[in-house]
Amino acid sequence: MDFLRFFGLKKDPFKLVPDPAFFYPSPCHNEGLLLMDYSIRQKEGFLLIIGDPGTGKTTMLNVFLKKWKAKAEIAIILTPRLSPEEFLSAVAEDLDINIENMNKNEIIKSLRDFMTIKASKRKRIIIIVDEAQNLPDETLEELRLLSNIETSKDKLLQIILSGQPELEARLRADNLRQLNQRIANRVYLKNFNPDETLDYINFRIAKAGRKTLQVHRKTCRAAHKLTKGIPRLINMLISRALMAAYLEESSLVLPRHIDHAVKSLNHSDMKVRKWPGLVPAFIGSLAVILVTGMLYIYLQTS
Ligand SMILES: Nc1ncnc2c1ncn2[C@@H]1O[C@H](COP(=O)(O)OP(=O)(O)OP(=O)(O)O)[C@@H](O)[C@H]1O
Ligand SMILES: [Mg+2]
Repeated sequence: MDFLRFFGLKKDPFKLVPDPAFFYPSPCHNEGLLLMDYSIRQKEGFLLIIGDPGTGKTTMLNVFLKKWKAKAEIAIILTPRLSPEEFLSAVAEDLDINIENMNKNEIIKSLRDFMTIKASKRKRIIIIVDEAQNLPDETLEELRLLSNIETSKDKLLQIILSGQPELEARLRADNLRQLNQRIANRVYLKNFNPDETLDYINFRIAKAGRKTLQVHRKTCRAAHKLTKGIPRLINMLISRALMAAYLEESSLVLPRHIDHAVKSLNHSDMKVRKWPGLVPAFIGSLAVILVTGMLYIYLQTS
């Protein structure tokens, strides 16, 4: 790609994929990973990851997977709109357990046997469900029942549920209270603050092999305002801004390139207020008029 050559980059720095190679360990992502590690090492059972769309849940799961895949048996369910039976089959298949022609009870028995054997070899068994807000209630309940498989000393199964905030709201409902009580650890992913946004942008450019490309501080500030620090939106916006800079043959990305990017993206989550200074100015003027008026009345009457 020409624009990569122009900026002296090896890779596209803002590609929209949850690639662990570009993982930026913001304080909250880092804390999340530490808690995931801790929860698996201590065999704490259920762990919940909650974050708004685009805040990096899948990316963080991929980093965790990379670290643990050689050390544990991991089933990862990415499309969880599954009935309890379909879900159990998907887990068994992901763990390479042969469940041909088995009914639900037989699948559960196979899973139990598998876990017991692996536990005797000190291997952790982890089920990860991404987009878990899409799991039907009956499947969440099945997952709770599955987590009951334990020895007198240890839980045999560790479960990570990752999803958008509505997942946590659903878990508070009466019918899922038992599951909610078992969640030992919770990770909350937050949007980046202005400094993290600036760091994030520079971190990804450095990972992509930066040579000449520079993003002005004011450009990063403008990007934070427009995206509210959501990494997915930052990627989309900065990617377009790079294009705008490239078309002008500028290796410095300036706020005007962001203006151009936001217009061309026309994204509903990145709307610019038309007269951002006008509302505070109006309230300010109103306050001045009121105070002056009151002062005038006071002086007249005293
Ligand atoms: N900590 C991070 N480091 C590097 N890139 C990140 C990070 N967090 C998010 N991203 C980037 O933002 C994009 C969205 O992240 P991701 O898909 O992980 O979000 P999500 O929380 O899983 O969103 P959704 O709820 O829509 O599934 C990814 O393409 C990834 O490149
Ligand atoms: Mg995701």
